[in-house]
Amino acid sequence: MESLVIRGGQPLRGDVRIGGAKNAALPVLISALLTDQDLLVANVPHLRDITTALELLGRLGARIEVDEKSVIRVNAGKLISRRAPYELVKTMRASILVLGPLLARFGQAEVSLPGGCAIGSRPVDLHIRALEQMGATITVEEGYIKASTSRHRLQGAKIVFDTVTVTGTENLMMAATLAEGATVLENAAREPEVVDLANCLAAMGARIEGAGTDVIEIEGVANLTGAAHRVIPDRIEAGTFMVAAAVTQGEMRLHDVNPGHLDAVIVRLRDAGAQISVSQSELSLKMPERPDAVSISTAPYPGFPTDMQAQFMLLNCVSEGTASITEHIFENRFMHVHELQRMGADITLHGNTALVRGVDQLGGAQVMATDLRASACLVLAGLVAREQTVIGRIYHIDRGYDCIEEKLLQCGADIRRVSDSRSPRVHAVQ
Ligand code: EPZ
Repeated sequence: MESLVIRGGQPLRGDVRIGGAKNAALPVLISALLTDQDLLVANVPHLRDITTALELLGRLGARIEVDEKSVIRVNAGKLISRRAPYELVKTMRASILVLGPLLARFGQAEVSLPGGCAIGSRPVDLHIRALEQMGATITVEEGYIKASTSRHRLQGAKIVFDTVTVTGTENLMMAATLAEGATVLENAAREPEVVDLANCLAAMGARIEGAGTDVIEIEGVANLTGAAHRVIPDRIEAGTFMVAAAVTQGEMRLHDVNPGHLDAVIVRLRDAGAQISVSQSELSLKMPERPDAVSISTAPYPGFPTDMQAQFMLLNCVSEGTASITEHIFENRFMHVHELQRMGADITLHGNTALVRGVDQLGGAQVMATDLRASACLVLAGLVAREQTVIGRIYHIDRGYDCIEEKLLQCGADIRRVSDSRSPRVHAVQ
């Protein structure tokens, strides 16, 4: 396994190009299952989760090609399997997204239950219940979701999600594109990644209205064609680098971003004292002095994103003042708190709320990544900590951040990746 070794203290200054959005690329690539023609996808980030998704599509029989411009061509014209196996699904929960498309196109699917993960139980009951409303017969046997439709096609239905679910909305939107009749999704997720998928499906011939609002209407069609689609920028990668510049009191210019997807993050960082200017596809952030603590409460888009919660926890750890962080989306998304406390952070947990008192400095430590965004938070902590921080299990980071250390090195960070056999011991400093 590998670790990241970081020596903190330098303000980050420089330019970073933001990659394509992981959480848009995943459903877009998987939507190729809905057609027997080529789907061309550009701006796909080079991430472990993307590799897993392509491996899963390949296992189903899809043909995958990558051209010299890294455009991915997927063709699911001749599938050999309708089964998403446990060994792939357990490494990437978003594999559940193959359920809707396989059911819609072939009337049959077997997908391993994803199981929980570090941030919560992560059930998929809303996906299953909604597909049953569309006429699917679904049982759960030996850890697998076994789904089939007795009639040739799924039937359009009116679906009201009890909880806003991003992949639930995406799964059902894809399933509905080939269903008989109209489907309405109420209490649908409004995330930009849902809109990006809807735009890709529309380019394939789907008839979708309302993506980006909480009511999405889909009129089923007989089949979908191929298309070419460019994935939107990754708003969470962008937000993570914005916080990196803020906590190090530096100055950073982000390229290939969509500032319109970052309103909640921009507002809170300005409240913290950041000077932020935006243009069509660029965003500049300067933090002239120590940030002021800002309280946040996560919510579905356009509310404050849960995927930025850990990063703002770190911001508050080194800010002036006290603030609260409340997590409303996942039941266990405070795994980073214990690691931050080991670095000297002053955090008190009360249920799903953390009270954070800013400290002047964090101390370096040997810490361990637990989930994707908690890992990113620990990288940011290393950037501001005294002495050296060593972060283990960084495969979590590689799932969602493309070349994070290269991008940080370009901005002056002292960071390097080492194999664990060579990672230095960190002398605890208090
Ligand atoms: C998506 O996960 C993202 N992943 C997550 O990003 C993100 O944190 C999350 O949405 C919330 O924004 C992808 O898009 C691949 P949910 P998803 O269904 O769809 C409950 C990252 O770091 N729920 O919106 O799995 C669920 O337990 C990842 O990139 C049910 O109860 O999340 C949670 O409490 C982490 N039953 C809430 O809804 C269901 O059937 C929201 O989950 C589905 C969800």
